[in-house]
Amino acid sequence: MKLLTPLIAASLAGASLMHAAESSITSKSFGTTTNGVKVELYTLTNEKGASASISSYGGIVTKLLIPDRSGKFDDVVLGFDKLSSYEKKSPYFGALIGRYGNRIAKGKFSLDGETYTLATNNNGQSLHGGIKGFDKVVWQATPVVTKQGPSLKLTYTSKDGEEGYPGTLSVTATYTLTNKNELKLVYTATTDKDTIVNLTHHSYFNLAGQGNGDILGHLLTLKSGKYTPIDKVLITTGELTPVKGTPFDFRKATVIGDRINQENEQLKFAGGYDHNWVASKLPGHLGVVAKVEEPKSGRVMEVLSTEPGVQFYSGNFLDGTLVGKEGKVYPFRSGFCLEPQHYPDSPNHPNFPSVELKPGQTYKNTIIYRFSTKS
Ligand code: BGC
Repeated sequence: MKLLTPLIAASLAGASLMHAAESSITSKSFGTTTNGVKVELYTLTNEKGASASISSYGGIVTKLLIPDRSGKFDDVVLGFDKLSSYEKKSPYFGALIGRYGNRIAKGKFSLDGETYTLATNNNGQSLHGGIKGFDKVVWQATPVVTKQGPSLKLTYTSKDGEEGYPGTLSVTATYTLTNKNELKLVYTATTDKDTIVNLTHHSYFNLAGQGNGDILGHLLTLKSGKYTPIDKVLITTGELTPVKGTPFDFRKATVIGDRINQENEQLKFAGGYDHNWVASKLPGHLGVVAKVEEPKSGRVMEVLSTEPGVQFYSGNFLDGTLVGKEGKVYPFRSGFCLEPQHYPDSPNHPNFPSVELKPGQTYKNTIIYRFSTKS
């Protein structure tokens, strides 16, 4: 293992001496892809001792060590021990998603009067960027120590026509594990031709620790008065539906499992929650969109974002067949995703906020997963 940055001494003032910690970035080989490309695994450790491991393959957060209310660290994300498992079959564990997070109906959209056909990979639809999305490419990685905490800058240039998308897209994703126990993700992108873009992050969280049962006892708050319903192939209908009086109302903290098995067409289509909520905040402004609390460990995660929506996915396609880290298996609903993003299938719904990016413009998206504890 290589230590990449000089250790940064934390404040050693007074009584905090005993707990003084240092932030660091280390790297080690994560192996070689089946195409022969070398992959590195970086570990960012902040002054509080929390750490995030990130693979240059797929920008994947493979491990996230966060303290519980007694100060005990657990890994709160699902994933694999080996690169080959991510390459073989991963339901986007921890991945950087692009060019377009979520589904585009039949992989088709029009832009400037031209129709584009994307790679389809999900029941005839295009999901999370297509067959070889940003979760399956090797990113150029540069570690940097910032005032906020240790950081990793990932860059990738997606060629014009890749997976069917127009324009050469130059993407930067900067992951910082701040000294306030936040995993902060900042994405920027530019293009040389009119295109569409919608990047997001796909960690499966279990705040009780990965492999520690299902997530149905977690309490969820979604600051949204509306959501975007889907049809039976999980494609957004284009409507914005009030959550009031439905199992989609999470405006007050509610146990995830309370209503998940209710008789409800939307829940039936998705096998649980797998929907986009309309964020109640000013567009483009960073604000809290979701909060999750795990009563036993006391861990709390707030999700802040600049994006107009957030997908809440309750891990309905997990079925116990994947063997994860430390040999743990991941049964039905044993992890949840909160993916801040533009609404699904936006290019085909002119009433949704635009996902177009033109030459000269810079796409920017900030997502923060902020951890704390509650007694
Ligand atoms: C989607 C699910 C999909 C999953 C892939 C989520 O973002 O909403 O429908 O199955 O990603 O693992």
